[in-house]
Amino acid sequence: FSQVHEFEVPNDEKALNLMNSCATAVLEEYPDIVFAYGFCDEYSFIFKKQTKFYQRRGSKILSVIVSFFTSVYATKWKDFFPHQDLRCPPSFQSHIICCASMEVLQVYLAWRQRDCHSRNQYDTCFWLLVKCGNAEGEAEEILKGTQKQEKNELLFQRFGINYKKLPNMFRQGSCVLKTEASSLNLFLLLVYIYVEEIVKYNDNDTPVIRPRRKVIIVHSENIAARNFWNAQLYLLKELGCFRQEMNKIKPENVKSFQFENKLMPFTWIVVRIDGCHFHRFSEVHQFEKPNDEQALNLMNSCAVAVAEELNDVVFAYGVSDEYSFVLKKDSELYQRRASDIVSALVSLFTSIYVMRWKEFFPQKDLKYLPYFDGRAVCYPSSTILRDYLAWRQVDCHINNQYNTCFWMLVKSGKRKIEAQSYLKGTQTKEKNELLIRQFGIAYDTLPVMFRLGSSIFQDEVTSLSLSLSLPPSPPPPPPPHPNRHS
Ligand code: GTP
Ligand code: MG
Repeated sequence: FSQVHEFEVPNDEKALNLMNSCATAVLEEYPDIVFAYGFCDEYSFIFKKQTKFYQRRGSKILSVIVSFFTSVYATKWKDFFPHQDLRCPPSFQSHIICCASMEVLQVYLAWRQRDCHSRNQYDTCFWLLVKCGNAEGEAEEILKGTQKQEKNELLFQRFGINYKKLPNMFRQGSCVLKTEASSLNLFLLLVYIYVEEIVKYNDNDTPVIRPRRKVIIVHSENIAARNFWNAQLYLLKELGCFRQEMNKIKPENVKSFQFENKLMPFTWIVVRIDGCHFHRFSEVHQFEKPNDEQALNLMNSCAVAVAEELNDVVFAYGVSDEYSFVLKKDSELYQRRASDIVSALVSLFTSIYVMRWKEFFPQKDLKYLPYFDGRAVCYPSSTILRDYLAWRQVDCHINNQYNTCFWMLVKSGKRKIEAQSYLKGTQTKEKNELLIRQFGIAYDTLPVMFRLGSSIFQDEVTSLSLSLSLPPSPPPPPPPHPNRHS
């Protein structure tokens, strides 16, 4: 991604500022996140210990945060790179790490900052060597096995650079913090620490406004040090203090941070993603009711792109704001690590949704961030997989039939509450009769995409006939390109 977009090496200030801006947006959006630390292409978000965010369901948490982050990244790209288009979708992976105590959290932060430091120091040396004429292989050879001190000396002696004088953001990474009341008086407190935000909308669409804490970015030499951490009142209050200085990052701790759950082998993996707050999203963008053809086409187009990118997706089924992706039974995608699979897929889908929005809605600006949650479930047999898909399709049918009746009634002058009670307890047959009788609509003639959802799969027949219809020789036929249909 950084090569395609020609990021400056070893650090691209604009790219890092974009990452920081996304992290700031995450902290502003989610009150339970108190602290974030990031460098290069990664960010860690720390939730309050007692958070009830999505009932602490890991998959929801990691997918929502990564999707929201990606959505901000793709949306804000133009602010940071006004003269460069996004040429490929940015996509991030995420994991959940539980720290049982403040000491473990301290080790985690020290570990991430150590990585930031060693990576940046290496990259700084590497790119300076390359810029002064060494081949990349030569630069690697020169740096092989060198210690911190040797790299600093190399920088100073060969390039006259004092590593410590390089920008803090590059060397130390960035911390995103929420501010806390200290000894400031109440007036200053309200002005400085709080900014107002719309937290939700009432039923009559009036915004509910509450004060929100101001979020700031700081850089620090040692984020795991007591003097940094314990000086932040908000961190002390919400997470606790660091009692001792940390002097060693134990390998067993690092191992526990890297532990990953794997999905059962030889089972169908289904990743289902679902739009977050799409009720509101569709209102804000004035989607047609009950079905907006362009909105569905956009969902389908993103799903096709995901299936093209991830070859292990053998089938996908989508309806409304959700899509289920079926991975082949023997898939080894990310070694079947659940977090990687869910987060990468949801993140990719999100950025494609943002990037393609204008193609499908040329007249509408994105006014509200689209983002999705995701989960992965394993199905051991094709019968159970078929049951799953049938369940999603039945859901599509029931919802669509209900919504068609509901919106026809509302459009014909009924209040929403009246339409609801009118339809209460009605069966499929009665709803079909209602549509015919009152509105002259034969349900079965409505667009199939609305009634039955959309399926995506590789069309082997088309790819075979395509390759057969090409001239045998010369020129040699290109390898058959699988077409995907939705
Ligand atoms: P969460 O998924 O829990 O965050 O809530 P949600 O608001 O996304 O609702 P849910 O996923 O249960 O349902 C999807 C919602 O998206 C529907 O209830 C609709 O309000 C909206 N939606 C999806 N597709 C369309 C569409 O084509 N037209 C319109 N008007 N609305 C749509
Ligand atoms: Mg939804």
